[in-house]
Amino acid sequence: MKKIYLLSFILLIGCSNTAKNKTDSKSQTKVPKEILIELSSSDNMLFDKKFIYVNSRQKITLTLNHIGEFDKKIMGHNFVLLKKGVDVTEYATRAMKARDNEYIAEGDDVIAHTKLIGGGESDTIIFDAPEKGSYIYICSFPGHYGVMRGILIVK
Ligand code: CU
Repeated sequence: MKKIYLLSFILLIGCSNTAKNKTDSKSQTKVPKEILIELSSSDNMLFDKKFIYVNSRQKITLTLNHIGEFDKKIMGHNFVLLKKGVDVTEYATRAMKARDNEYIAEGDDVIAHTKLIGGGESDTIIFDAPEKGSYIYICSFPGHYGVMRGILIVK
């Protein structure tokens, strides 16, 4: 909390040089505690978002929708958010073999993930935003991560 106040204070000072008034800049720095994110996929094997923006310390409620028709055995999708520094190709290769675990590889590589869903299904997960930075998310269904991927940007 202290950090937020300090940040708004610095921003206020920064803004005093411009024409902006104080209440304006104050409302701009206020960040909601929770954020809802809707991510869609379908039989075309794509996510509808390449970038997702959140703020650190936010509670993220993410819903993954599959608006296609194919069964999850053929065109399954999930949302797998990888930790920083995880090699995407290496992870996806391991995940591909983890069919019994819905293509989530064993280990400590993932910040959060949904279950694997097929056409007409959706899944919602809740997790805390990680620290500031960029994080890659993929669909770990075999063969999908090359195109089904995006970046979660934590400001
Ligand atoms: Cu997929």
